[in-house]
Amino acid sequence: MMVSKYISLESSECQQTLTIARPTGGFSLSGCIHIPGDKSISHRALMLGALATGETIVKGLLLGEDPRSTASCFQAMGADISDLNTEEVRIRGIGLGQLVEPVDVLNAGNSGTTLRLMLGILASHSGRFFTVTGDSSLRSRPMSRVVKPLQQMGAEIWGRKGASLAPLAIQGQALKPIHYHSPIASAQVKSCILLAGLLTDGATTVTEPALSRDHSERMLKAFGANVQVDPETCSATVIGPTRLIGQMVVVPGDISSAAFWLVAGAIVPGSDLTVENVGINPTRTGILEVLERMGANITLENQREVAGEPVADLRVRGDASLKACTIAGDIIPRLIDEIPILAVAAAFAEGTTIIQDAAELRVKESDRIAVMAKQLNQMGAQVTELPDGMEITGGLPLMGAEVDSYTDHRIAMSLAIAALNATGTTTMHRAEAAAISYPEFFSTLENICNH
Ligand code: S3P
Repeated sequence: MMVSKYISLESSECQQTLTIARPTGGFSLSGCIHIPGDKSISHRALMLGALATGETIVKGLLLGEDPRSTASCFQAMGADISDLNTEEVRIRGIGLGQLVEPVDVLNAGNSGTTLRLMLGILASHSGRFFTVTGDSSLRSRPMSRVVKPLQQMGAEIWGRKGASLAPLAIQGQALKPIHYHSPIASAQVKSCILLAGLLTDGATTVTEPALSRDHSERMLKAFGANVQVDPETCSATVIGPTRLIGQMVVVPGDISSAAFWLVAGAIVPGSDLTVENVGINPTRTGILEVLERMGANITLENQREVAGEPVADLRVRGDASLKACTIAGDIIPRLIDEIPILAVAAAFAEGTTIIQDAAELRVKESDRIAVMAKQLNQMGAQVTELPDGMEITGGLPLMGAEVDSYTDHRIAMSLAIAALNATGTTTMHRAEAAAISYPEFFSTLENICNH
């Protein structure tokens, strides 16, 4: 239980309730923040490490619940993964194509990345049978986006609603290569197909309508796979069969986690926060471009390259008032996970912000359009749902209210940041969801809040 005069987190059974009581003069935020490792890169390091020949060492792995799900699935299929709670996680891979048929159902928990990427790997492991499931949120998320292209490659997959919902059963097969033109810009879809291509004879290509995050392509190359990318056509190809050789992976801080502090610093007057060691891969930096357009004062310091990924320290100062902007088109996949917190920024910005082309938000860990609109409106904001986004008229004062995370980690953290600038007291139920990607979020929040 975490308790201060203004911020408290109380646990009962498996649930946590967060209370933020804004002091009359408001909070002022300051300090240096060390954010957890990138979630996308952590999943991929565990998966490729498990599939590679030899040892992989992962530094800076995210210790959230999602990567833990990935680790336990691959342990159940024979990978030797050391204690995750250490600075350097060591993985003794079992070699591509060598996964052991698990004796029980593989459980991906809340993690869409675990389930979708793993499906490509399992479908291509011929002669073995797998069953996969997840929590109630994951069991309601669409799997046909990966099942259909895998079936085009010859995969055998069964499940509810025409194999579009987990639990799923997979009979591994030798697959055939395809050139898949994905209707959505999704790194999970792209990565699933590329991973299926590792054991497939020939060129497996994915072309997407806009470029999604490219961590799989980068890491596959680093592990020695034959991968070609063409950013012009948003295409990536794996030439299989290939092999993977264990590597040292240094995981940068997650820009999706940094985003909460960047918006907090931008909306709370007088803030001065530095978020250290943030991954600034160009396929992830849409949030920085939008916050800059909104007038936020963010500077990139100490830019460097760490193990193939660009990294910087980000300093945000709350000395500018934000203005509304339009967020739509090709930038959406580059900030897809940051839209809930950008909605909070928009609620404090002068004018009407339009978010469009983001229908994908409806099938994330929750329906993030409906949930954010409802919760922010409860706090006094003016948010209208669009089929593929939101219209947010900012500048109205937000008031403390009773809100709910809907068990979605990014909703939990976004609402906590909104509460910092809302008068009175906000109570959030099911705050424990933050631990999916950011277990230390609330203690950091308490540390940087001065009153
Ligand atoms: C992820 C890709 C994104 C993102 C998710 C992580 C990944 O999903 O929302 O949190 O690691 O590949 P989509 O690729 O489905 O948009």
